[in-house]
Amino acid sequence: DEATAAAESMTLARRVWQGEDDAVFLVDKSLHPQIKAVIETRAKPLKIKIIEIEAKLEDITALSEPIFGGIFAQISSLGEIRDLAPLFSLIHERSALAIIACDLLALTIYKTPSDYSADIAIGSAQRFGVPMGFGGPHAGFMAVRSGLERSLPGRLVGQSLDSHGNRALRLALQTREQHIRRDKATSNICTAQVLLAVMSAFYAMWHGPKGLTKIANEVRDKTNSLRNALASNGYSVTSGEIFDTFTITDIEAEKVSQNMFDAGFNVRIIDDKTIGLTFDESITVSDLENISQVFKATAVKDLPAKVNEAFARNSEFLQHPLFNSYHSETSMLRYLRNLADRDLALDRTMIPLGSCTMKLNATTEMIPVTWTEFSNLHPFAPSEQSVGIRKLISQLSEWLIEITGYDAVSLQPNAGSQGEFAGLLAIRNYLDSRNEHHRNICLIPSSAHGTNAASAVMAGMQVVVIACDEQGNVSVADLKEKIAQYKESLAALMVTYPSTHGVFEEAITQICGLIHDAGGQVYVDGANLNALVGLAKPGKFGADVSHLNLHKTFCIPHGGGGPGVGPVIAKAHLAPFLPNHPLDVTAGPTTGPGPVSSAPFGSASILPISWTYIRMMGGEGLTKATQVAILSANYLAAKLDPHFPVLYRGAHGYIAHECIIDLRDITKNTGVSVDDVAKRLMDHGFHAPTVSFPVTGTLMIEPTESEDLNEMERFINAMVSIRAEIADIEAGEITIEESPLRFAPHTSSDLMRNDWNRKYSREVGAFPSEVNSDLGARGKYWPTVGRIDGVYGDRNLVCSCLPISELAIN
Ligand SMILES: Cc1ncc(COP(=O)(O)O)c(C=O)c1O
Repeated sequence: DEATAAAESMTLARRVWQGEDDAVFLVDKSLHPQIKAVIETRAKPLKIKIIEIEAKLEDITALSEPIFGGIFAQISSLGEIRDLAPLFSLIHERSALAIIACDLLALTIYKTPSDYSADIAIGSAQRFGVPMGFGGPHAGFMAVRSGLERSLPGRLVGQSLDSHGNRALRLALQTREQHIRRDKATSNICTAQVLLAVMSAFYAMWHGPKGLTKIANEVRDKTNSLRNALASNGYSVTSGEIFDTFTITDIEAEKVSQNMFDAGFNVRIIDDKTIGLTFDESITVSDLENISQVFKATAVKDLPAKVNEAFARNSEFLQHPLFNSYHSETSMLRYLRNLADRDLALDRTMIPLGSCTMKLNATTEMIPVTWTEFSNLHPFAPSEQSVGIRKLISQLSEWLIEITGYDAVSLQPNAGSQGEFAGLLAIRNYLDSRNEHHRNICLIPSSAHGTNAASAVMAGMQVVVIACDEQGNVSVADLKEKIAQYKESLAALMVTYPSTHGVFEEAITQICGLIHDAGGQVYVDGANLNALVGLAKPGKFGADVSHLNLHKTFCIPHGGGGPGVGPVIAKAHLAPFLPNHPLDVTAGPTTGPGPVSSAPFGSASILPISWTYIRMMGGEGLTKATQVAILSANYLAAKLDPHFPVLYRGAHGYIAHECIIDLRDITKNTGVSVDDVAKRLMDHGFHAPTVSFPVTGTLMIEPTESEDLNEMERFINAMVSIRAEIADIEAGEITIEESPLRFAPHTSSDLMRNDWNRKYSREVGAFPSEVNSDLGARGKYWPTVGRIDGVYGDRNLVCSCLPISELAIN
């Protein structure tokens, strides 16, 4: 979200800084309070010193400390538009990065971050068509000048070429992702806010540059006309250039706020004598008249003056055809349909992605998200106006506590990774409260999810890796050794249960005991809770804190990479250190470390999904779901094992809710890679399983309880058919280079080519399996992109829209 984008911009600036270690980060006093607070939460464990400062040249010149970066708002929290160019050149003189917090709608009429020579721009895309939803989910954004793109945190969508030489979009720079770089990763971001980013993009396509400019001017005109009316009626209001916000001062704030409330409006109380008003395009002329009446002011007839030249934008934007083509409802509908048809989503097929728990997102669970009572609530609306959602939040919290055996929970983190950070921060602050500041080692098994190590570093800890034994379990021998070695400085163990190897580690209670005996805390990564609900409680087998992934176990759809909710849930002794929020005392303990998200309750508007799921299932239903998830995974493992060996099993030969199949011998003997198998599955109409995590050269498959026997049989048949194609290579009947496995996925244009000279027929390419002969009848999924050249894409990083000149056929 916006505040975490701001915090990530700080850490990006720190990463590229080559000067003194003790350089400081400047934070504009006029940033929104929640943004400042999240920056502080993130800065503290990294020992980054923050200086809050006015956006004044003399204040910056007066600073004697080295500076590695500074973040300033183009529009102050109180509404003034500022010219940041002179300030940014002072920051650049210090070789530091200049970061601008900006507003997408305002940017359509005001100067751009690059006009100010900003290095990084951050903000929220919420006002591009995304409901407020009591604070989220919303997509934050972060843009950088060229030269910094490889330092961006998280995942970039980049452009590469497919095997037919066509341009194709893909996730770029995967090699620097957490799974490879672990504690050296650029950030812990995994699940983000993809769906919200996509929604905002569609909003921009629908309105186009002209429509957006019109909306911005409308917002500005309405805001300015009211401000001017109040000014001409003697009120002290913000002077100068304003966009959508201004303040009224020298009034009795509480009383005026009550009058405004009686007239149907919420205002921001800034202090005893000042209130702030902010508008969007939904404000009507009659609303403005009603507000004028509250202030007993008469309207001013003249339209507000044009944007002051000093602040005005004079460059074009969104010129790409995508933003200038779909302005009728029919064309937009068809465009969306066209995109959806390319998507191999859960409504077509099982998505067997291990560690992702791609389960049914039932319509009944989804409907409440659209209800205005949830979607139209402002995150800082008075508590008496948000009774319903608050009740839902507290019930959901109680249920999660009951399910996990913990004592306290915060729903604020916007993803599992953010929950990890919050949980480790709770451990950090708990240890600090006991004067155990020296404890800073976090033990993490080699099989752990990449976010674990990255989060530990963000929480100011050092990572020590624990080996796994041949069964994929944490090596208790190695753990004992590391505990002995780091006994004095041990802060925590971060362990996933059931393990990322898909096995219930029998030693888990012993492992927790060993850590506690050595004075450390146990963090159980709860992303795999789908294998535990109703059967076992982490809070009872020895863990101190966990995060859960509501976007896995509790049915929030993954949205192509987010939104998610990653509650952090803990035993009583860590409860005082869970996240809180400066603008809502009910959001967490007063002793908390500050917020980890912009909004007090994070992505509140999608919580009804998990609430509804739990409410409909009840305790018995949830337990049954877990049992079926485990049974299904074991069924798949048993059926696949004769064809592809299952890598890890528990002591009794069973797995938990997912299984890893090992292709390494096959790859060694035939050259068939996990990519070949994953892509061939697309020809069968299946989404690929998780590839090469946590063990390179393997596939991790998680069916979940949502897949019926028919769908699992279809998957098994596809895998058996792929195994037969591998056998043809083993038998020397075809080489891997000639095999349909290597040419997969088969696009329709590939199959239509005149020069088809493959060693297999077109039918085999498109309809690979006789046993799945109803593939056509079911509505064959046609892959639209051939095999993508990952290396080319990483070498030639393109992660913005192509210029029109590149798209023109002439
Ligand atoms: C075991 C494990 N831990 C942590 C995470 C991170 O969760 P999120 O993607 O919500 O940040 C994941 C996500 O895939 C996971 O599988």
